[in-house]
Amino acid sequence: MDLMKHSFSFCIFFVVLSHHGTKSFEQATAEGDIIIGGLFPIHESVNVTVNYDGSENQICDRFSMANLVQSLIMVQALEEINQKQELGNLTLGYLILDSCGDVTTSLRKIPSFMRGNCNTSAQQSSPVLAVIGGYYSEIAIAVTRLLNLEYIPEISYGATSGLLSDKTRFPSFMRTVPQDNHQARAISEILDNNGWTWVGVLTTDGEYARYITERLWYYTNQKGICFAFTSVLPDNLNDYLLGKSIESTVKTIIDNENVSVIVSFAKPDHMMYIFQKLLNDPQGTRRIWLASDIWSQSPEILNTKKHTLSDIGTIIGITFKSGNTTKLKRYLDDLDENPSHHNNNPFLSTFLKQHGSTSSEKLKTMIYPSAVFSIELAVKAIAQAVEDLCTDRDCKTKRPSPLELRGALWKAKFHMDGKNYSFDPHGDLNTEYDIVLWKQTSESLDVNDIVARYSILQNSLTFISQETKHGNVTSRCTDSCQPGYSKTSVSGQPRCCYQCEPCAENTFSNTTDSEKCNPCEKNYYSLKGSSKCLPRKIDFLKWDDVYLIVLLSFTSLGAVLTIVVGIIFLAHWNTPVVRSSVGPISIILLLSLMITFTSVILFGGPPNSYQCQARQVVFGLSFTLCVSCIMVKSFKIVLAFEFDPVIQSVLKKLYKPYLIIAVCMAGQVVIVTTWLIHSPPTADSEITQNNMKLMFCNEKLIPAFGAMLVYIGLLALICFGVAFKGRKLPDCYNDAKFITFAMLIYFISWIMFGPVYVNVTGKYIPAVEMVVILISAYGILFCQFFTKCYIILCKKEANTEKSFRRDIRNYSMDHKGIDGLTGSQEDACKATTDCLYIHPFSSAYPHQGCGVCYYRVHPVQVTTQMQC
Ligand SMILES: *[C@@H]1O[C@H](CO)[C@@H](O)[C@H](O)[C@H]1NC(C)=O
Ligand SMILES: *[C@@H]1O[C@H](CO)[C@@H](O)[C@H](O)[C@H]1NC(C)=O
Ligand SMILES: *[C@@H]1O[C@H](CO)[C@@H](O)[C@H](O)[C@H]1NC(C)=O
Ligand SMILES: *[C@@H]1O[C@H](CO)[C@@H](O)[C@H](O)[C@H]1NC(C)=O
Ligand SMILES: *[C@@H]1O[C@H](CO)[C@@H](O)[C@H](O)[C@H]1NC(C)=O
Ligand SMILES: *[C@@H]1O[C@H](CO)[C@@H](O)[C@H](O)[C@H]1NC(C)=O
Ligand SMILES: *[C@@H]1O[C@H](CO)[C@@H](O)[C@H](O)[C@H]1NC(C)=O
Ligand SMILES: *[C@@H]1O[C@H](CO)[C@@H](O)[C@H](O)[C@H]1NC(C)=O
Repeated sequence: MDLMKHSFSFCIFFVVLSHHGTKSFEQATAEGDIIIGGLFPIHESVNVTVNYDGSENQICDRFSMANLVQSLIMVQALEEINQKQELGNLTLGYLILDSCGDVTTSLRKIPSFMRGNCNTSAQQSSPVLAVIGGYYSEIAIAVTRLLNLEYIPEISYGATSGLLSDKTRFPSFMRTVPQDNHQARAISEILDNNGWTWVGVLTTDGEYARYITERLWYYTNQKGICFAFTSVLPDNLNDYLLGKSIESTVKTIIDNENVSVIVSFAKPDHMMYIFQKLLNDPQGTRRIWLASDIWSQSPEILNTKKHTLSDIGTIIGITFKSGNTTKLKRYLDDLDENPSHHNNNPFLSTFLKQHGSTSSEKLKTMIYPSAVFSIELAVKAIAQAVEDLCTDRDCKTKRPSPLELRGALWKAKFHMDGKNYSFDPHGDLNTEYDIVLWKQTSESLDVNDIVARYSILQNSLTFISQETKHGNVTSRCTDSCQPGYSKTSVSGQPRCCYQCEPCAENTFSNTTDSEKCNPCEKNYYSLKGSSKCLPRKIDFLKWDDVYLIVLLSFTSLGAVLTIVVGIIFLAHWNTPVVRSSVGPISIILLLSLMITFTSVILFGGPPNSYQCQARQVVFGLSFTLCVSCIMVKSFKIVLAFEFDPVIQSVLKKLYKPYLIIAVCMAGQVVIVTTWLIHSPPTADSEITQNNMKLMFCNEKLIPAFGAMLVYIGLLALICFGVAFKGRKLPDCYNDAKFITFAMLIYFISWIMFGPVYVNVTGKYIPAVEMVVILISAYGILFCQFFTKCYIILCKKEANTEKSFRRDIRNYSMDHKGIDGLTGSQEDACKATTDCLYIHPFSSAYPHQGCGVCYYRVHPVQVTTQMQC
């Protein structure tokens, strides 16, 4: 009820309003069961003159033939439906008004559409159930607000403003064209496709141009395209500032000589003024113009008598999907050119009066295929909705309400040229755009040559001919960056005016105009300014490296020698030389030397973590074993030549060779285990200065590594100290001397190792340690075994008990003296071949004239016998 009252009061308002203006405007009408409204800007503007008495004169001027043709498209489509009886015995009529391209004028006239729905009016006429038109968004927005009071759906064929997609505000608005957001996207796609990143924009302060410019900015910004300038013209063609704006726009275009692509959302008349001025200046010619739908079908903007299209340059137009113009052409061909036969359509009859028999031809030149598509589709949509509504009711007697029609329109599935269409939830119809290329024909311009299509749903351009590819035309602020360079913005400059910086080392860019240089993948490198990465060479001590071959030869030689020495020792097991150097310990020593040599091999080749751990552990343990064996030996020597029986007996008790070795090893095992558990050595890699990838073992816990070496060093120091004490022992028993030597070699080589190891970089770091290990091992092998082998093999006569004993006795006598013995005692002692040496009197044997003769029973055990 509220609703009724509401609409009732409005009806009164409209009746008053329309009574006031009925006479003042023309309208084209046709009878029918269902009347469809049409709102076309048959005149493009209104000339308002204010009289002295304050009243206004409004005259629609700038008659547009093209828009008259558009109203005829609607007429033709409706007549065709009636003719073919597509709705059975139901007929469609029309009521067409001239919006004069002006919102106020349109609003003044709209009540004509609504009056019919009011029951109060005396002159009851058939109601308008739907309105086609409102070409300009600004008009459509105002008109649909008003029409929505009675739920009259408005289907526009040209209002593309994104605002109208908002169905909470414009629930009665639909359109057969896509909204401008998509057009902006299509334009940015064309710009991007041609690599035009520095473009000028001509726009107006109207609803349409403002919105589409904003959307274009949004999409181009994403693609890195910048606006070199944006010139805003007043939307109203009668604006007093228009002339000034046109002038300053022309100046802007001429000043920006490097901007060869200009996108324009201005009206056709704006463009006409601009080209008139621009083409007088040689700097203003030969540019690429991207025309939005608003002027892309308006060839009349160019005065072909004065200029040709090639003066302007190239015009690429975006148009709505084109329709089939065959039927319309036939309709215009068949048009009755007698004005008095068109009294129901004053617009047409006025035109016919003016142009006479050329009318038909004139009108045919003004057919916009895109308008044919969208207007015809709008009619089809309404017809389909009516058909859907009237399938199960007699609409002739009980005609549907606008609200019912609106509901049916939302659901309608209508078809044209074999394709099905329907409105999306925003009331939009998102199909595609045609991209046209203007062509100069002998006299006029052909603006209907479709060169590409832009599909809205797929956001993709499909080229029909290659002409839209303008590869040689560039529109850039700065030259593009080559591969190997990246863009760097210059402060205070737009994003598109950048500089090119070569990519830093180990980064690359393989496209022109890269935003940034990408880092090379692992194992790849690049030099400064590279467009690709090169595989990194991997570096390590390779098996075929000459140095490694030499070192490994020494290693194998050492191993072979160790084995040979072992065999010689085993073969001469019971000879004094072997026995004096403690056979079993020597064999352990040889074994550990063998392992040490083996550990050297682990230092070559490509490192892996197991190898890295094994090499240090094996070396550390084997060499500790080596040194402990030597230590045991040096203890023994000192023990054998300790003459003080008391000390000797104490030492003898302490002297447990295998226990000592085990304890020494245990120390090293603790160090090594700690190392391995805490942070074991791992294979690692680093990038060297010559861009190689160096593989190396990372010791990780350097203190542990140091501790391992220092521990060996401490043992060696003990050896050295002990052996040094016994360095003057008899020649055949001169182990001590050689141990001293071996340890000296060891110390010197490891002392050198420290600084060299720290300073050498690259793949030869392991070689340093190899050399040092080899020197130490060879030192031990030579000093400990070679002299003995020499005696065993070459001086067999020296390798007898007898000569041994003689040596020792001579030594003892020389060094310890036998002063205390009488001559005969001494002789007796000397005569006892088993006697090693004779110790003079000591506190243990307080008998005067007595000496102690020492017998060697076993290399270690010595027995004594009193000699008096
Ligand atoms: C508006 O109309 C008046 C006469 O009514 C005319 O003098 C004037 O030039 C017109 N203005 C424009 C901009 O067409
Ligand atoms: C129109 O056609 C419908 C059926 O399609 C029929 O019921 C109705 O009577 C017809 N009306 C007229 C006036 O012919
Ligand atoms: C107009 O009003 C009369 C009664 O006042 C009613 O009978 C008729 O159906 C109404 N017509 C329309 C079109 O609403
Ligand atoms: C246009 O481009 C040329 C060459 O790239 C350049 O020398 C000139 O300075 C540019 N002109 C302007 C106005 O930027
Ligand atoms: C247009 O329609 C006519 C028939 O009405 C048809 O013969 C012609 O092939 C159509 N043209 C196109 C381009 O579809
Ligand atoms: C259009 O819709 C009709 C049914 O309404 C269907 O038979 C036809 O196949 C559809 N055509 C296309 C191209 O989808
Ligand atoms: C592009 O360059 C080719 C030759 O390099 C020329 O033939 C062609 O006309 C040029 N196109 C344009 C649009 O300048
Ligand atoms: C550029 O490099 C990227 C990443 O490495 C690669 O996917 C792409 O194929 C390269 N492009 C060219 C043209 O080489």
